[in-house]
Amino acid sequence: MMEKTFLMVKPDGVQRGIIGEIITRFEKKGFKIVAAKFMTISEELANKHYNEHVGKPFFNDLVSFITSGPVLAMVLEGEDVIASSRQMMGKTNPHDAEIGTIRGDYAVVMNRNLIHGSDSKENAQREISLFFDEKEIQDYDKAIDNWIH
Ligand code: PPS
Repeated sequence: MMEKTFLMVKPDGVQRGIIGEIITRFEKKGFKIVAAKFMTISEELANKHYNEHVGKPFFNDLVSFITSGPVLAMVLEGEDVIASSRQMMGKTNPHDAEIGTIRGDYAVVMNRNLIHGSDSKENAQREISLFFDEKEIQDYDKAIDNWIH
């Protein structure tokens, strides 16, 4: 099923200079970038984005980390992209993430896990609309689309 998801290279991924490395994996897989924004997240936006985690012991750390420097926010489109991109990211705790996944290959500890990805259709829609206006999302064909789908 054709879907869109929200992905974000977190401040640690930006600082380490591996934005390109991360994006390349999704492009090579065959997913299409339909929106991207390099930005610093406000505390207000962080609170909305991580709303379901309010009250958890790690919440304050999570908000201060995600607002600590620029991130690359993106919308990706593709067949089953929500579940597939989560698979490519690897488990939330890099310690448990398999080699071959982004976190398994490039991250070591929980609060420096490089990337966020929506975990459901509902959250994908919610997160996309938090970060992007409808007009910022591109609708375009790529010549290779027919070779992927
Ligand atoms: S939960 O409780 O199972 O819903 O939490 P989880 O899905 O594992 O994680 C939700 C987000 O919180 C981040 N997280 C943490 N950040 C800092 N420190 C600690 N200890 C911690 N535990 C979880 C985790 O990376 C998730 O953020 P995103 O951006 O979705 O990856």
